[in-house]
Amino acid sequence: MRIAQILFSQGFGNRRVCAGLLQLGLVRVGGRVVEDPHEEFETAGLVFEVEGRPWAYHAQALLMLHKPAGYECSQKPRHHPSILSLLPPPLRTRGVQPVGRLDEDTTGLLLLTDDGALIHRLTSPKHHVPKVYEVGCKHPVDDSQLARLRAGVVLDDDPAPVRAAAAERTGECALSLTLTEGKYHQVKRMLAAVGNRVETLHRSRFGGLLLPTGLAPGQWCWLDDGSRAAVSATGAIAAPAIPG
Ligand code: URA
Repeated sequence: MRIAQILFSQGFGNRRVCAGLLQLGLVRVGGRVVEDPHEEFETAGLVFEVEGRPWAYHAQALLMLHKPAGYECSQKPRHHPSILSLLPPPLRTRGVQPVGRLDEDTTGLLLLTDDGALIHRLTSPKHHVPKVYEVGCKHPVDDSQLARLRAGVVLDDDPAPVRAAAAERTGECALSLTLTEGKYHQVKRMLAAVGNRVETLHRSRFGGLLLPTGLAPGQWCWLDDGSRAAVSATGAIAAPAIPG
């Protein structure tokens, strides 16, 4: 692929901006300045530098962010900064979007991609991709609450009950909840429906992917091919390797 097209596809700006980066000698491949916009490179495994910063070529972007509290998942946030502000500009330019949403006060595993078909597949209720939430509650969690969460509770916007695929107590006022849909405020509304109240909410797993312990709040990492396959898995668990 031509270097000008590579830069454009990776989010370094429109064609004029990419041509300007090349003309100014700001792009290197293998340590060599590349000025000719027509020069071709093999994209598989390609790492190039723009203004001294290394960038690995990805035909499609798929990454994991450890969402901190105090960020909104919207592109046009209302009260807090957007999670997109935690990503480098090329990822925003190429249209990376969160796969579903977490509330402003929820922390944990958030996937982002520029692959619209993948977003659709992972958020479709038909696909039953399990998501695991670690929930801190205001009141003690008892067996009858767990049984009701597993059996199904009715929320105010739909007469069909929503069930937790799993609900296990992890502390006096804490539980781990596995959901396969992604309704608006689902965990908070389900806990309210059984007479409790969510005080802290953290997503620890999405499909077959675990949030790695080495990924601090606010940090993100690319997902490699193995992790890509694990994303939509319903059983096996994998944690991506954190570079560096
Ligand atoms: N359920 C909620 O209530 N909030 C989230 O952020 C995610 C799931």
